[in-house]
Amino acid sequence: MIEFRHVTYSVSSGEAEEPTTEYGRLRRAVEAARHKQGFGRRGRKFILDDVSFEVPENSIACIMGVSGTGKTTLLRLMAGLLQPDSGEIWIDGHNIVGLKEREMMEIRREMGFVFQYGALFDSLSVAENVGFGLEQQRRPKSEIAEIVTARLREVGLAEESVHRKLPSEISGGMRKRVAMARALATAPKIVLYDEPTSGLDPVMARVIDDLIVNLRERAGTTNVVVSHHLTSILRISNLVIMLHGGQIVAQGTPDEVRQIDSPVVQQFLEGRADGPITVA
Ligand SMILES: Nc1ncnc2c1ncn2[C@@H]1O[C@H](COP(=O)(O)OP(=O)(O)OP(=O)(O)O)[C@@H](O)[C@H]1O
Ligand SMILES: [Mg+2]
Repeated sequence: MIEFRHVTYSVSSGEAEEPTTEYGRLRRAVEAARHKQGFGRRGRKFILDDVSFEVPENSIACIMGVSGTGKTTLLRLMAGLLQPDSGEIWIDGHNIVGLKEREMMEIRREMGFVFQYGALFDSLSVAENVGFGLEQQRRPKSEIAEIVTARLREVGLAEESVHRKLPSEISGGMRKRVAMARALATAPKIVLYDEPTSGLDPVMARVIDDLIVNLRERAGTTNVVVSHHLTSILRISNLVIMLHGGQIVAQGTPDEVRQIDSPVVQQFLEGRADGPITVA
């Protein structure tokens, strides 16, 4: 089980990191032009403000929300890659806030990550990328080869010539699938996915969705999926969490969330440009 208890995460307005998306950069420029937009209490920007939720074991929780609302930040906190200002983050019975890196590594060993932009090792082949975690565990070569082949086949990359290619030699959608195969190679109990289907064609997006669902059923994984794809969110999740303005504005089963009578939630669900969600 994963639980956030009153988690707050802020950054000083001075140290604001370079946005990672084109949209983020555009928004940052607009913010800069307006000076202090979005920066509150004592010059700090609250990315997450008193966020609490629970992801039960063996479930698929989808985090949705507009760009720049803190979804990736939330996953990074969950992976212990960032420390919150306050609050507790419980992973399988351990509060990971303030844990030493060595202890965090132990917990991370049970986790798989699919990063937002694939984030593969550029100098390693597709097969080496997928086998990376297994190599670290010093598993026998033949076993690694077997697992790598099986995982790549599951994500629709059975062709051997692809296994020898470098990440720069394959398409963005393929890189995404390699990232997925890599995350699953070590058979993690918890899998965190940051937009696993964005940039994929609808057929491949469906393949990835089905894989997430199958994995939960077959291996009993606990999954947190950040996604913009509404149809996929509503199809695969047991729990939907919508973030907006640093807070959770909706939380429940897909059916429950659909019924929530909030302008922000309805605008997002209907994908309308007019409403309380604005671009800047
Ligand atoms: N280390 C940091 N320092 C300063 N600002 C940060 C830092 N990390 C993230 N941010 C800011 O926090 C906000 C949330 O970022 P995050 O990447 O979590 O958004 P997101 O919901 O994943 O967006 P997207 O859908 O575009 O991926 C953004 O405004 C970003 O600029
Ligand atoms: Mg993100």
